Amino acid sequence: MHPEIQELQTKLKEILYDCAVEIRATKAALYLLTNDARFELITEYGFRGVIRPLADRTDPVVDRCGRGRTPFFINGLNTEPRFSHVMFESASDRLLAAPLYLRGNLVGFVDMRDKAGKAPFEAADLPKAQKIVERIGEQFANRNVFNQRFITLSEAPPKATLVPPSMSPSEARVAPIVDPAPPKPASPAKPSLWGAERSAPANVPALSTLIIEARSNADRIAVPESPDTIGEAELTVIRDLLRSMLLIPGAVVASVSAYGHMGGVQEVTARSSLTDEAVNVLQSKLNLWLTKRGEGGGFVRTNINLPFGAQDAQITAAQIQKVFTAPITAGSLRGLYLTVVFAATPDRGAHELLAAFHKQLQTAIEYSMERGTLQSTRSRIADALVEPDFTKYPELRRHTDSVTARVEAFTRFLSLSPADAETARIVAIVHDAGMRLLEYERLYRKKDLTADELSILKEHAVVGASIVEPLLGNEIARAVLCHHERWDGHGYPNEVHGTDIPLAARILQICDVYETMIAADSYAPAEPLEVAAAKIARAAGTQFDPDLAQKFVDMLRAR
Ligand SMILES: [Fe+2]
Ligand SMILES: [Fe+2]
Repeated sequence: MHPEIQELQTKLKEILYDCAVEIRATKAALYLLTNDARFELITEYGFRGVIRPLADRTDPVVDRCGRGRTPFFINGLNTEPRFSHVMFESASDRLLAAPLYLRGNLVGFVDMRDKAGKAPFEAADLPKAQKIVERIGEQFANRNVFNQRFITLSEAPPKATLVPPSMSPSEARVAPIVDPAPPKPASPAKPSLWGAERSAPANVPALSTLIIEARSNADRIAVPESPDTIGEAELTVIRDLLRSMLLIPGAVVASVSAYGHMGGVQEVTARSSLTDEAVNVLQSKLNLWLTKRGEGGGFVRTNINLPFGAQDAQITAAQIQKVFTAPITAGSLRGLYLTVVFAATPDRGAHELLAAFHKQLQTAIEYSMERGTLQSTRSRIADALVEPDFTKYPELRRHTDSVTARVEAFTRFLSLSPADAETARIVAIVHDAGMRLLEYERLYRKKDLTADELSILKEHAVVGASIVEPLLGNEIARAVLCHHERWDGHGYPNEVHGTDIPLAARILQICDVYETMIAADSYAPAEPLEVAAAKIARAAGTQFDPDLAQKFVDMLRAR
C-alpha cells in the first residue's frame, strides 16, 4: 500500500462508513489503484474478510466502472450473471458500486453490498454513493499518489446543523411537552435517514466515528446459546395437541413424557380420570418400551388434564387395549416421547390420524422453540447492549427499567399482539443505548447546555440506532432512531411525522416522557401524577399520537 494512502486509512474508513449511515449498506469496501494497474482492497466493513483482496480489469465491477463514470447497482444474483460470482463469493446478493475518477482516470471504486433490512438498492442511493466517492477523492487532493499529483476537485459540501439555534437546551433529554413549534424556515438539505452530520466542536469525535465505534462495540457482544430444552410455551402447545388427539377414534389417553426437560415433566390428557392401576400399567408399558430401545427414562412430574371433565367412569387397566409410543424429533431436542392409549384396537384411519398428529406435534414444538429462541435471544442481546451503561450509570438503569415496565403495562392495556408487544419492550430497553458514547455522565444532568452540547446529546438517537441495528435488526433500529420524533413532525433527527413514526417508538415516547416527569431523579423536579397525566393529554396530536395518548391517559385513570 502506498505510504500516503496508509496514512489516510483511518480517515478513508470513516468516510466509507457513510455507506452504512447514508445508504444503509451492510458491507462496503474501498479499492484503490496500485502501481501495477490493479485495484487493491484498502479498507472495508461488514465483509468479515470474505472479499477479494485484489481486483484487475477482468473483475466485472472494475470492468463496469471503467465503462461509465456513474454509480450503478444490481439487485439479485441472477439479474446480471457476470456479477453473480463476485456477489456469491462474499455471500451477498445485492451490489452497488461507485467508481472513483480523478483527473479523468479510474483510480478506485467503492463496492457496497446488501442494504439493511433486505431492501434493494434504489436510484435514490446513486447520488449518495457519488457524494461518498467524491469525499474519498477529496482526501487525495495535493497528494502524490496514483502516479500523479492531484489538485483539489471540489469544496466540501456545507454541513447541515442538526439543531436549530432557537431550540432550548431543556429539550435535550426527553423532549418536554411543548406547544407546537413555530414553523421553521425550510432547511437547505433534507437530512438522510440517519440524520444530518453535525458541525462538531473540535474535541468531539465526528458522528461517523461514533458510529464506527458503536458498531465495533456491538460486534464484540457475545450472545450465549439458548438451552436445548422445552419451556412453558412448548408445554402449552403440547397440551393443546394432546386434547385434539383424544378425537382419534378409540383414543382414551394421550401423553407426552419429557425426560430431563424442566426437571422432568409428563403431560397426560385423558377422556376421564385413570385408576391407580391404569396409571401403573401405562407407566410400566412406557418404561418397557424405553428399556427395549436402550433409551433412558427418569423422573417426571405428571400433570393430568381432563378436558371433558371427570364425570365419566374411570379408565381402568382392563380398558387399556393398545399403547403406542414414539419419540418426538423436534430440532436437537432429546428425551421427548408421545404415548397414546386406545381402548379398542385402532383401525387404519385411526393409525393415519395418529401419524398425522405425531408429525404435527413435532412441527408445533419446533416452531414454538424457534419463536421462543428468537424472542429470548433478542431480549438477551438487548440486555447485553445496555449492561455496561447500567453498571456505570444507575440513574440510566432506573430510567430504563421504569420506562420498560410502563411500556409492558401499556402494550397489555392496548392488547397488542405478542410480537408487537415484545418489539416495543426491546425498544424500551435499548432506546437510550446511544447515550453511552455521548458523555452521558457529563451531559445528562447538566442544566444549561450549550448549543454544541445539545446537538451532541441529540445524536443519541442516531448512535443508538447504529448500535442496535446489526444485532437487533432494522425494525428495532428504526424505532430507536425515531424515539424523539414528534407526531406533528417537529421532533428530531429527521422530522418524521404521524404514522411514519414506528408504532413501538410512538408507544415508547409517551412512556418515556411520563416516566421522566414523575421520576424524582431526572433533570426537573418530579411532577405529581395527575399533572403528568394532564400534560400527556394536552400533547395529544402535537407531540404524541393522539389515539395512543388518549389510551395512555385512560390506562392511568383505570387504576
Ligand atoms: Fe432518548
Ligand atoms: Fe429515555
